[in-house]
Amino acid sequence: MAPIDYVVIRAKEDGVNVIGLTRGDDTKFHHTEKLDAGEVMIAQFTEHTSAMKIRGKAEITTAHGTTESGRE
Ligand code: TRP
Repeated sequence: MAPIDYVVIRAKEDGVNVIGLTRGDDTKFHHTEKLDAGEVMIAQFTEHTSAMKIRGKAEITTAHGTTESGRE
């Protein structure tokens, strides 16, 4: 079986939200995690989580590379 992808989120300001969205017919928020500046969350996609939404300024690293969220 293929390994499950990790997403590394490094908050660049206080109050960054990492929001998990459900897998399946309904796409709903199921969990919100709040990070302060410098905090790192390492999360996986799971049978419950098909997508993540990051709100606020953060550096996001996946197997596909690194990107930034937050207002320019
Ligand atoms: N209980 C959730 C799950 O197993 C935990 C989780 C995994 C999560 N990845 C996440 C929560 C990403 C928020 C964002 O799917």
